[in-house]
Amino acid sequence: MSNIVCANVDKSYGAINVIKGFNLDVSDREFIVFLGPSGCGKSTLLRMIAGLEDISGGTVSIGGRPVNDLEPRDRGVAMVFQNYALYPHMTIYDNIAFGLKRMKVPKDQIDERIKAVSATLGLEPYLSRKPTELSGGQQQRVAIARAMIKTPKVFLFDEPLSNLDAKLRHHMRVEIARLHQKLQTTTIYVTHDQLEAMTLADRIVLMKGGAIEQVGSPAEIYERPKSLFVAGFIGTPNINFIDVLVVEREGGWILRAEDMDIPISGKGFDLKPGQTAVLGIRPPDLLPVDAGHGSLNGVADLIEFHGNDALVTFRFAGKEIGALVKTSSCPKTGDRVTFGFDEARIHLFDAETGLSLRAGM
Ligand SMILES: Nc1ncnc2c1ncn2[C@@H]1O[C@H](COP(=O)(O)OP(=O)(O)OP(=O)(O)O)[C@@H](O)[C@H]1O
Ligand SMILES: [Mg+2]
Repeated sequence: MSNIVCANVDKSYGAINVIKGFNLDVSDREFIVFLGPSGCGKSTLLRMIAGLEDISGGTVSIGGRPVNDLEPRDRGVAMVFQNYALYPHMTIYDNIAFGLKRMKVPKDQIDERIKAVSATLGLEPYLSRKPTELSGGQQQRVAIARAMIKTPKVFLFDEPLSNLDAKLRHHMRVEIARLHQKLQTTTIYVTHDQLEAMTLADRIVLMKGGAIEQVGSPAEIYERPKSLFVAGFIGTPNINFIDVLVVEREGGWILRAEDMDIPISGKGFDLKPGQTAVLGIRPPDLLPVDAGHGSLNGVADLIEFHGNDALVTFRFAGKEIGALVKTSSCPKTGDRVTFGFDEARIHLFDAETGLSLRAGM
């Protein structure tokens, strides 16, 4: 058992409270991603779980045992950082063996463990090299090997891929996913890259200003964002937001955006006549329709080709709106474009609180 429980965890630096009553249950074997903008407290939380930072209030438990007063080495966790800091004068073998040697593990056991770990991570050909003779991705794998070799109960990763170029990041992301499939070690992974979070996480913990904004599977967070902040943080290309006035009419509702009316049934939403709201529609959820049949239209003023699809930008109700369309049916700049949507895929938020107006959320 190596579940992790954070109960009312607080962190203050002097008078500044940077983590506020943080509650989270991480199941054994789960892959959790802490996601959020810079400064929201992701690293601070991870470091408190690792024991590198004092806990100002509340309790962190690992495997059912409170660890607030345990030294980092007694918590059964291994951490991989963005800056993997290998010892430059040591071989890869010695870098990986370093922790075990210090723990006075017998040499034949170290040999055996290094063999297994380097096979898992594809590091066998490099064991006698020095770190400068490896690529960035290979060096990051050595850092992971160094963490793995201690057979931790919990893996903690703090932005481990942010020093790598885009292609290598993708490659390492796949490797980390495979590694987790194989080892099933409970993992908390910190990133501010939403794509990394979406592809790796069993559950994403989306943070803002030291507190949890939403916890859920990547699909839940994408499909059912609780707030404007969540909807805006997740999804590429970015979601479109349109300020609207909610108007009741017979048998349904109208979302009035400047002088444009967007009729909806309102099914699934708790709407009040006269309230101000923000309509959110993701670019792939805008569907090209014949003129006269859709509710959002304008003149295409920019086309960005992505390959199979293209992002069409047009002005509507004073806003730049992006729609993702198949390249084969892509308009040209200057063309008049009309889009509709499936009402089940739109989002509505209270303009004042920023919270979702979806019923039951
Ligand atoms: N030693 C410190 N003294 C005072 N404030 C600190 C200290 N360390 C961190 N903070 C503050 O705590 C907040 C959270 O920092 P943290 O490093 O956890 O953010 P983060 O989410 O990891 O951000 P990033 O994505 O930039 O790494 C920040 O506002 C930061 O300024
Ligand atoms: Mg950080």
